[in-house]
Amino acid sequence: MSSVLRCSGYNLVKTDMVRGEGCYLFDSAGRRYLDLEAGVWCMALGHSHPRINRAIYAQGQRVSHIGFRYTAQVVETAAEALIDSLKIPGGKSLFLSSGSEAVEFSVQAARRITSRPLLLTLSNTHLAAYGSAGQKDGEEWFCFDWHACAGCTRADCHPGCILLAPIPFDRVGAFVFEPGSSSGLVRFPPRMLIETFARTVRGQGGLVVVDEVTTGLGRTGAWYGFEHYGLEPDLVALGKGLGNGYPVSAVAMTGGVAQSLTGEGFRYAQSHQNDPLGCAVAKEVIAAIQEEGLVERSRRVGARFLRGLEAVGEGCGLVRDVRGRGLMLAVELAPGLACEVYRALLDRGFLAGYKPETNLLRFYPPLTLEENDVDRFVENLAQVMGIIETEKRDR
Ligand SMILES: Cc1ncc(COP(=O)(O)O)c(C=O)c1O
Repeated sequence: MSSVLRCSGYNLVKTDMVRGEGCYLFDSAGRRYLDLEAGVWCMALGHSHPRINRAIYAQGQRVSHIGFRYTAQVVETAAEALIDSLKIPGGKSLFLSSGSEAVEFSVQAARRITSRPLLLTLSNTHLAAYGSAGQKDGEEWFCFDWHACAGCTRADCHPGCILLAPIPFDRVGAFVFEPGSSSGLVRFPPRMLIETFARTVRGQGGLVVVDEVTTGLGRTGAWYGFEHYGLEPDLVALGKGLGNGYPVSAVAMTGGVAQSLTGEGFRYAQSHQNDPLGCAVAKEVIAAIQEEGLVERSRRVGARFLRGLEAVGEGCGLVRDVRGRGLMLAVELAPGLACEVYRALLDRGFLAGYKPETNLLRFYPPLTLEENDVDRFVENLAQVMGIIETEKRDR
């Protein structure tokens, strides 16, 4: 019997993973599995990356944690690297421990600066495991269902539109935008709508907060997901890939936001804030993404992956939709099939993501994914779908 409490909502499938290397996990029998979800979308550089292992060891030898009254050069260097990657001249950042914490910090900061009661977000957005951003209480959050806007062909998206009219923009302190993971559904809100929200909220004194926990650092084939929307955010929350498996997250902000927070006497004291060890990892991850050209690679390999999935869809009546941006992709299947396909892929050595209630297979692999692994996976998926389709026909 296990002494571990499990409450993620996901059932345990394998209990004997012993090692990770690159895009692969290995079980105790030495069988390898292509990890197409990069853990929980965290292993941007792949498992056991030598460069990150070296950075962890080297910083651990120096100093891993330090009190609020002290700091180390690596914290400054990591903050500069992050701000440079975001192109926020004069910006500032701080390092925290999880994506949820980075989003919650951003929300608290926006509330403090604007003194407005409401935050606006899109209805299928997962922002955090806890706190105000996790609960999205109706008193504090206006969650806009954008599906009616998805097919809109008008060129004049504006706050007076009948669909947007119920939004009390004058009470909104911030538009909190997550650019496309959409709770793992891989849905991309229309650019015009997002730009209207950002412009209107800003125009009435609010801020634009972007949650890049999943979409940041190359995942969508751009450095940041907000680049697909032409936004200039006031605050950006990051996590997951930033630590490549080490729990470090960050909030980056414009100089103006940082100044307002300081002026307001904003306090947020958490023990692992700006830890040198987390900063050493974040700095190394950003450098590796830059030096190894992983943003461009995500775009290129992601496009090949998408084409492969589309080809599977064209040849199979059980595939309802295929969508993706960079290395964030999904295949929507006929209802009730996701678990069966997931199991069949697992037997063939592939770890796909799925949630039974969504009929989706999803893929957020390491950005280091090789093209031959994409091709091998697509071939296996086509075979699995073909077998299931034949079985269904013969039943
Ligand atoms: C878009 C987004 N924001 C925030 C979070 C929360 O991050 P964490 O689980 O690291 O707390 C997640 C987690 O999946 C996420 O996908």
